[in-house]
Amino acid sequence: MSDEAEQIAEAGVIRIAEAADTTALHDTELELLGKRSRLGELKASLRDLEPEERKSLGAALHSARTKIEAAVAERKSALEAVARRARLESERLDLTESLGRANIGHAHPITQTWERLEDVFVGMGYRVADGPEVETDWFNFEALNLPPSHPARSLWDTLYLDPTGLDGVGPEQLLLRTHTSPVQARTMLSAVREGWGPPIYVVCPGRVYRRDTADSTHLPVFHQIEGLVIDRGITMGDLSGTIETFTKAYFGEALTSRMRPSYFPFTEPSAEFDISGPDGEWLELGGCGMVHPNVLASCGLDPEEWSGFAFGFGIDRLAKVRHEVEDLRDFITNDQRFLEQF
Ligand code: FA5
Repeated sequence: MSDEAEQIAEAGVIRIAEAADTTALHDTELELLGKRSRLGELKASLRDLEPEERKSLGAALHSARTKIEAAVAERKSALEAVARRARLESERLDLTESLGRANIGHAHPITQTWERLEDVFVGMGYRVADGPEVETDWFNFEALNLPPSHPARSLWDTLYLDPTGLDGVGPEQLLLRTHTSPVQARTMLSAVREGWGPPIYVVCPGRVYRRDTADSTHLPVFHQIEGLVIDRGITMGDLSGTIETFTKAYFGEALTSRMRPSYFPFTEPSAEFDISGPDGEWLELGGCGMVHPNVLASCGLDPEEWSGFAFGFGIDRLAKVRHEVEDLRDFITNDQRFLEQF
């Protein structure tokens, strides 16, 4: 009987090593060591044996149980290690995807539009100029033929800055520029002072601010690009030719622009120009006109000698038409799924 116990243990150790999973292992363990197992029966028979036989079979049963339990423990920990590896493998995150080209970021669509516009105008012979976003009332309005309390000031819902603590600055003298037109005045003054012009051919892209409520075609913070040409003998014909050349260069041959008479205090005559979108609807892009003689004079240029045109249009609206975006607010909500399309 002692030999039988040993054989059961040896055969059992082999079966245990072959158990495919923890359930199979548990069943095998029960079969080998449970009350109804052959070892269980042998154990039950102990009480009927002579003391000598009982001693030897008892020792054999103990040894068989110890071998089987050790084999079960070993197999159990091997199966658990396999299960742990499988779980780790299934939970593994593939981070190589986020290292891919698509996710390293790229310029915002408005920045891309801004840069493309600069390229188009530089290609047409213009220089790029810029000016500050915090402006004085003089540059934003007065130099542009808008003296204090001029009724047309209400065309621009202005955000004024609190001048407390700034010596000599009165209320409503410092503001967030409402358009890029103050850069016209800055450019003419510096051209005269530094002696590099006229002729002046510049574009001035930049951020502007208005107390406008955001909707599908308006943002309170948006972008404009200003154009200014000052030379001898410039006419309205040059202005409309420039706008048409720009429209085709930027949007392609299929799109057209139109000019409508309008009013701006700093240009005379003035016009607004629209562009036909892919859906055939006209969208107002900007204003333009011949630089008013009062503006030339404010900036130190003789209106008898020089003439010129200026235009200013919305970069965000340009991007809207070009990329067929329905709502300007989509540009500022920073939804990656939207931005990744550009
Ligand atoms: C002006 O700001 C003039 N300075 C343009 C100008 C320059 C006229 C030079 C003559 C000579 P206006 O307020 O219309 O004009 O704005 C120009 C363009 O900015 C609009 O046609 C539109 O395309 C864009 N724009 C105006 N308000 C908003 C806004 N809240 N959100 C987005 N784009 C706007």
